[in-house]
Amino acid sequence: MKVTIRNASGKEAETVADIGRTTFYETWKSVNTEEDLQLYMTKSFDLEKITKEIEDEKVNTFLLAFANDELAGYVKLRNDRSHNQLKGTKSLEMERIYVLKKFQDKHVGKSLMDESIRLADAGNYEWIWLGVNQENFKAVEFYKRYGFEVFGTKKFVLGTAIDEDFLMKRKVNSDPSVH
Ligand SMILES: CC(C)(COP(=O)(O)OP(=O)(O)OC[C@H]1O[C@@H](n2cnc3c(N)ncnc32)[C@H](O)[C@@H]1OP(=O)(O)O)[C@@H](O)C(=O)NCCC(=O)NCCS
Repeated sequence: MKVTIRNASGKEAETVADIGRTTFYETWKSVNTEEDLQLYMTKSFDLEKITKEIEDEKVNTFLLAFANDELAGYVKLRNDRSHNQLKGTKSLEMERIYVLKKFQDKHVGKSLMDESIRLADAGNYEWIWLGVNQENFKAVEFYKRYGFEVFGTKKFVLGTAIDEDFLMKRKVNSDPSVH
């Protein structure tokens, strides 16, 4: 399967929101209440909000992944966004990396991750970091696969539920043989 990556444009906000909603729902429907899922999705995948986020290219980078020309996933990067514990360093936050279920385990996530690390390197970032639900075992293992390590935890509000995320970081310039 051929995977290609390119930047999203504001006109593609609806598509990005659709993938976000679908992947989020597929991932969490067995664990969370319908009400909490809907509350979270309404807030997080609002079309106007996502259009603004995509168009604000200084603040965010949205990359789309295509598998054999079919849209399969995306990643949202927040440029120059540090965490308290990484204060004083040039850091990039990977806020969402979402691959539709039918395209998972086919190296789409890998392509999005590789391109994110390449951009971070080209932008002279020192750290790439993210928050991931502690119960999202698949994603945690995926990040470890790329040399991310846990450096803390933070609360994550999902509708009326409060979960605990791991904070994970990876030195951008670390040993390329890690992945
Ligand atoms: C997590 C996610 C992004 C991974 O993307 P993917 O396309 O399924 O993963 P890939 O096929 O690209 O896997 C890349 C590598 O990681 C490894 N990997 C993936 N999941 C793994 C797991 N659970 N345990 C160990 N290794 C894993 C793969 O084996 C592969 O290694 P290889 O290059 O040696 O073959 C994707 O499954 C997803 O979108 N999940 C739902 C949404 C989500 O939870 N996002 C993260 C929110 S923080």
